[in-house]
Amino acid sequence: MEKFILFCVFSSWNMLIITSDVPEDEVSLFRVELKDRISLNCNMTHRYEIAWFHQYSQQLTQLISAKTSNTAGRKLLVTYNLNKSRLKVDADIEITTVTLVINGVTEADSGLYFCGTKSVLSSEMHFQKPIRLEIEDKLTDREDKDNSVTEPPEDVEIGKSGY
Ligand SMILES: *[C@@H]1O[C@H](CO)[C@@H](O)[C@H](O)[C@H]1NC(C)=O
Ligand SMILES: *[C@@H]1O[C@H](CO)[C@@H](O)[C@H](O)[C@H]1NC(C)=O
Repeated sequence: MEKFILFCVFSSWNMLIITSDVPEDEVSLFRVELKDRISLNCNMTHRYEIAWFHQYSQQLTQLISAKTSNTAGRKLLVTYNLNKSRLKVDADIEITTVTLVINGVTEADSGLYFCGTKSVLSSEMHFQKPIRLEIEDKLTDREDKDNSVTEPPEDVEIGKSGY
């Protein structure tokens, strides 16, 4: 068990932040190396709004948010981007999966990532399984590496959590 922040989001993104104990198996672990490009997936099926949040220590930051437009087919419109030079979202054609892409990760990008989505039926935001990002430094971590093979970064599939 480990302390981290759980949050509930009401309409218009107001947040109530609660620190809570969440079992470590409810977090997906994702290890990358400095300067890597990472892609974190979020399930957007039957959802129309999405936001990605990053939590490091007690600080919670919204990275990006987007919503779908139905005017000319389903399209994803970015409504907020903390840093356009290194963050973006990609989606498949049907917008069933939205991928947060971060270029050139630094130590400051480690921590927890939360993807929240809203459905058309309710203004409540549903949070999927959080992802813990660990940054490895090739040079300084060399001694720590045992026989385990470090996989190249792959997209993380995030399943539905809870319901
Ligand atoms: C955005 O990212 C670039 C490249 O990593 C960095 O140099 C810049 O300081 C960042 N800007 C903000 C506002 O964080
Ligand atoms: C995404 O969510 C939908 C509906 O909630 C579900 O049917 C589907 O299996 C999910 N996809 C993945 C990859 O988890």
